[in-house]
Amino acid sequence: MGLTVGVVGATGAVGRKMVQILEERNVSIDTLRLFASQKSVGTTVKYKDTEIKVELLTEDAMKEQFDYILFSAGGGVSEKYAPIAADAGNIVIDNSSQWRMTDGIPLVVPEVNPHTLKGYRGIIANPNCSTIQMMVALSPLHKRYGIKRIVVSTYQAVSGSGQNAIDELENQLKDCDYPNKVYTRKIVGNCIPHIDVFNENGFTKEELKMVYETHKILEDKEIEVNPTAVRIPVVYGHSESIYVEFNETINIEEVYSILEGSPGIKVVDLPAENQYPTPLDIANTDYTYVGRIRKDLYKSNAASLWVVADNLRKGAATNAVQILETMESQK
Ligand code: A2P
Repeated sequence: MGLTVGVVGATGAVGRKMVQILEERNVSIDTLRLFASQKSVGTTVKYKDTEIKVELLTEDAMKEQFDYILFSAGGGVSEKYAPIAADAGNIVIDNSSQWRMTDGIPLVVPEVNPHTLKGYRGIIANPNCSTIQMMVALSPLHKRYGIKRIVVSTYQAVSGSGQNAIDELENQLKDCDYPNKVYTRKIVGNCIPHIDVFNENGFTKEELKMVYETHKILEDKEIEVNPTAVRIPVVYGHSESIYVEFNETINIEEVYSILEGSPGIKVVDLPAENQYPTPLDIANTDYTYVGRIRKDLYKSNAASLWVVADNLRKGAATNAVQILETMESQK
């Protein structure tokens, strides 16, 4: 018997990817139901050989029986509807930030902390896109050397802000006077060091997500994380320049071999042949790519990495589907 699966926000940038990835990965599904707002009722989304009609998201629908409901319709929708679905006995995999830091709710990157899913039912949180790829790359090194400090700058694609932002960039590429609505500045020809709202301490909410989610996923609140999150005019694929300081002296050859042998990672690092990952190279794939691996010029316990992943796939939809697959494999 296949699964009964729901996708909430199925007409959005991530929701559509979720449907596509459920199909690609051949998840055994008998019934797939798609939910969105009134605006989308009556439209369809393609899944395998069928066009599935989008239904209106309602409390009653969330009380019906599903094996899994994947949410990607923003924090407000998850705040209201995810508990209703979970109280009805459904497993919710939520892509919003709404429940990530709530005690007792697992925050999961399947390559890193699958143990937190064992025997669990209820709401499961999918981490922030920038956190996911950083965790895939750093957790194997944390296991070996222990991370003391991370300084990370992100170069984030507009698809992370949803379909409206993709449209805004594409319109500005055709007409650079096309007005900005999603961002505070024109994104074309620009980079904007401002993702989500500013906190009193000068960091943005996006940056603080990377701090607190890292602590929760690695189960270590002592790690010092200092992020700067930047939006750039790329459609798909987040890049990160990561400087990481460890508790122990590192061996850079060993860093290479740890990364090469770890799940979900592909090392692309041949500078002499201009081989390093870029968002255009890796778009539409599910790996986290690591390149430009260098030991600190002065310290024996630190290294720099360049880490790139498809934010809609590994950073969102694929990670959510992998959580579903991990739960199924643990049954
Ligand atoms: P809709 O397209 O009907 O507005 P994105 O992140 O690309 O902007 O997509 C957001 C997704 O969340 C869309 O599928 C959108 O549906 C859905 N959504 C937003 N608000 C609601 C709501 N109040 N109820 C149900 N779905 C919603």
